[in-house]
Amino acid sequence: MYDFDKVIERRQTNSIKYDREKAQDSRIIPMWVADMDFETLPEIKEALVKRAKHGIFGYAAPTESYYQSVIGWMKRRHHFDIDKEWIVTTPGVVTALRLAIQALTKENDKIMIMKPVYYPFDASIELNGRKIIECPLCFDDDVYTCDFEMFEQKIVENDVKMFILCNPHNPIGRVWKKDELMKIGKICQKHQVYVVSDEIHMDFVYGEHHHESFYNIEETFKDFSIVCTAPSKTFNLAALQTSNIIIANEEIRKLFIEAKARNGINDPNIFGLEACEAAYTYGDQWVDELLDYLQGNIQYMIDFFKERLPEIKVISPEGLYLVWVDMRALGMNKDELEDFMLNKAYLWLDEGYIFGTGGDGFERFNVACPRSILKQALEQLEKAIQTLK
Ligand SMILES: Cc1ncc(COP(=O)(O)O)c(C=O)c1O
Repeated sequence: MYDFDKVIERRQTNSIKYDREKAQDSRIIPMWVADMDFETLPEIKEALVKRAKHGIFGYAAPTESYYQSVIGWMKRRHHFDIDKEWIVTTPGVVTALRLAIQALTKENDKIMIMKPVYYPFDASIELNGRKIIECPLCFDDDVYTCDFEMFEQKIVENDVKMFILCNPHNPIGRVWKKDELMKIGKICQKHQVYVVSDEIHMDFVYGEHHHESFYNIEETFKDFSIVCTAPSKTFNLAALQTSNIIIANEEIRKLFIEAKARNGINDPNIFGLEACEAAYTYGDQWVDELLDYLQGNIQYMIDFFKERLPEIKVISPEGLYLVWVDMRALGMNKDELEDFMLNKAYLWLDEGYIFGTGGDGFERFNVACPRSILKQALEQLEKAIQTLK
């Protein structure tokens, strides 16, 4: 049994979550960026210590056992069969999104994203001189869905060249179903739209939900898409900057690798390779227990709001450790809500508005922390809300 209850001090550890300006006040609980507060898998620590003790840190390259660990994890955990040749490493998924944009589209091309969505999607498009086309998700106050008619219409009307899919979808917690992915794929295939499927949260799914890779929906979808994976969310290894981008189509892979070279992105980080291989080789049990713990946290949060703050609506997540909460009942505008969370509730959250259209009045809570911290955070929030009454 792994101990996810253990509280570990993270201030003064070069952590963006804990050491940035906003978190300096020790009353503030940071629950914003998707970075977990749990100690990682022991075998990862051992692999890193072993490599550090070797004492030579020259240019690195993935070994056969590295590739086999990635292939094994995807097959075991996701029934996702990949060939070794399809794996291209990058120093992060956001880097991969930007490389894919550069490789497969031209300046001023239109790239579609669903909204609200993980905000670096916007920046990746705009910083590369491409144009964002938004496809807002439908929300019935409970569940988010895609209006496929609108999805297709937006593609046709705007001559969209690429769609960036967030699967599972951050921040709203949807784990897209096979039939939804089939519709998305068919529409993109029909209109020759590249699909970049960001599957970084693939390991975090709950209950009857299970992750479907875009590559698993239909064989021909591999002809026009890229799947982005990484061990960095699952095992909290973001600072080791190692992700595995799966590209089956040879021509797309060639263009992607050329973009990598153009940007001077060469050999991977040796510690990232070690950590990824250890994670994917030894991490099954750890992840199973982690998922149980996270489900417990999510349930705790849902029950807390239901019993003590019923005016606030938690959008029950199908996946992720990020919980999307509808705070519109508090009647605050986005600045008031942000100020209230930070300066009254002492919580540093990701504000809904940063995720774009449909995000105002929402907050995203990162619940990948020991339950005692989550409890304290929710009690701080309750206390702050009571002062409003
Ligand atoms: C959907 C999504 N993609 C990518 C990332 C970041 O990936 P990386 O750190 O590998 O660039 C995150 C981090 O939260 C994310 O939620």
